[in-house]
Amino acid sequence: MKYQTIKYHEMSTEMLEQLRIGAFFTTKVGDKVNTMTIAWGGINIVWNKPLFVAYVRFSRDSHEMVEKSCEFTISVPLKKDMRKALAYCGTKSGRDVNKIKEMNLTLAPGRVVETPVLSDCELHYECKVIYKLPMEHGLIPQDVKESYYRHDDYHIIYYGEIVDSYIIKGEK
Ligand SMILES: Cc1cc2nc3c(=O)[nH]c(=O)nc-3n(C[C@H](O)[C@H](O)[C@H](O)COP(=O)(O)O)c2cc1C
Repeated sequence: MKYQTIKYHEMSTEMLEQLRIGAFFTTKVGDKVNTMTIAWGGINIVWNKPLFVAYVRFSRDSHEMVEKSCEFTISVPLKKDMRKALAYCGTKSGRDVNKIKEMNLTLAPGRVVETPVLSDCELHYECKVIYKLPMEHGLIPQDVKESYYRHDDYHIIYYGEIVDSYIIKGEK
């Protein structure tokens, strides 16, 4: 396995194209590693730092995990067809199943953070949460509320400073 370090913005077009389809948001607490599919978010510059911004509903196991770990990794499939794993990790909860094991996903240790990345994917961001913001219910347009928040399961927005970004090449 070969690591190629990239600048945080170097692959942002490819990342955003794939994010709409799905990427993996991975968390680790103690020995437990969980991953879930995300499609909302992106890279922002705030306080002069590059941040990966992710939207996580309060109901997710991943929310509970990231609240404890204060870090996450984002793994983005660029070439490999990971639709099956994205669908599974986007519908099953880490409270009920070990998604990594069930989908036969491979973990590679984080280079800076404690949380691993999914080496089945090519593009990776390691992130440390430096800010978070629960959505302000009163500010959400009514039509958006009706489409996305009928059960009041709002998102909390995590701002993860990108502390490492790279491509993993070669066999896992
Ligand atoms: C394509 C796709 C995109 C998704 N994007 C998000 C997202 O951005 N934020 C979120 O909270 N859930 C999102 N989900 C839903 C979670 O992945 C799903 O509820 C998952 O089972 C949560 O797992 P967990 O309970 O182990 O955290 C998405 C699901 C799919 C299929």
